[in-house]
Amino acid sequence: MMPDGYYSSKKSDDICEDVCGQQATCTALSMSRLRCLLQGLDLKTFIFLFVIVPTGIVGIYFHGQKITYFLRPLWQSPPKPFIEIPHYYHENVSMETLCKLHGWGIRDYPRRVFDAVLFSNEVDMLTIRWKELYPYISQFVLLESNSTFTGLPKPYYFAINRDQFKFVEPRLTYGTIGGRFRKGENPFVEEAYQRVALDQLLRIAGIEDDDMLIMSDVDEIPSSHTINLLRWCDNVPHILHLHLRNYLYSFEFHLDHKSWRASVHRYQKGKTRYAHYRQTDFRLADAGWHCSFCFRHIKEFIFKMKAYSHNDRVRFSHYLNPKRIQEVICNGADLYDMFPEEYTFKDIIGKLGPIPHSYSAVHLPAYLLNNADKYNYLLPGSCRREDG
Ligand SMILES: *[C@@H]1O[C@H](CO)[C@@H](O)[C@H](O)[C@H]1NC(C)=O
Ligand SMILES: *[C@@H]1O[C@H](CO)[C@@H](O)[C@H](O)[C@H]1NC(C)=O
Repeated sequence: MMPDGYYSSKKSDDICEDVCGQQATCTALSMSRLRCLLQGLDLKTFIFLFVIVPTGIVGIYFHGQKITYFLRPLWQSPPKPFIEIPHYYHENVSMETLCKLHGWGIRDYPRRVFDAVLFSNEVDMLTIRWKELYPYISQFVLLESNSTFTGLPKPYYFAINRDQFKFVEPRLTYGTIGGRFRKGENPFVEEAYQRVALDQLLRIAGIEDDDMLIMSDVDEIPSSHTINLLRWCDNVPHILHLHLRNYLYSFEFHLDHKSWRASVHRYQKGKTRYAHYRQTDFRLADAGWHCSFCFRHIKEFIFKMKAYSHNDRVRFSHYLNPKRIQEVICNGADLYDMFPEEYTFKDIIGKLGPIPHSYSAVHLPAYLLNNADKYNYLLPGSCRREDG
């Protein structure tokens, strides 16, 4: 192939000579070569200045955030890995054996368990959560605000729907908190403010030292056998993160196994603070489900996209178009058209494109399967959502 390459480069030289240097005398030849070169450069500079630079600026203006996400492996290293605790469970294995398998002892009686959540509008997820955990919870603690994290007013949705939750009423501590409605503030500040109020509500609910406390979002649902294990066994780490299966939109789209924010604490007065970030290195494997954006109505997707901590990702108003949202859900695509949030290029590339459909509805919350008609939209094969 050498001759070919040589031929073509020779040919382009000839063209340049044709254009720039054809009538040049011998002495002027080097000058005209230089001019030829400069003219070539000029064109490149021209293209660079007037095409590439503006395209780049427009691109960064509209997609800067997206580009930053793609380049995340360059500027952020992954967090310290968790110390993974293997999780053993089968319904026919005794509690004594299960505790022993984890290297823990068994108690004479189980600890009391408090489940505390900050509620926004996730009525269906809350029902599935509370039905799943019901047998093992001493007090359900729920706080809601009339402000979203981004400072938008919202109704007290739990109060409006409270009659659907009669089954927990004798064990419920419910509180509301007025929003601060600060314009332009970082949404994480309002979130932190609401979590402090939840600490106070827990004390009102009567939590005491050594009680077990679940800290998680409404849509991070520990499986009931996990909570039963942790309340019966002794020598469980004082703080333990829960490794949850991550789903998006419904249990049809199994994203990964990486959810870790939910945690279980042995309560210590004056020390335990309600938090939703990394608090320890220990994590118990396969301890439940995290179903993000698992809403029944399209309008709830829009509300969540505008109202919570990542509203800056709504870069274009057409992202909130109901028809687009419905398509994104059925395709398992990304609502914000972002790159996957990962720490290595390998993981980003591995997750590019839509989430594959899953046809497994094995090991899901029992209440969901027992009421499959009502929660059809959360099960494989039914991605259409209700309008409005
Ligand atoms: C579980 O235990 C029950 C009652 O002891 C027994 O009938 C059943 O066969 C067991 N199932 C399995 C899968 O071991
Ligand atoms: C939010 O609740 C607080 C306290 O109950 C109340 O004073 C305030 O008017 C409410 N704001 C809105 C916008 O509903």
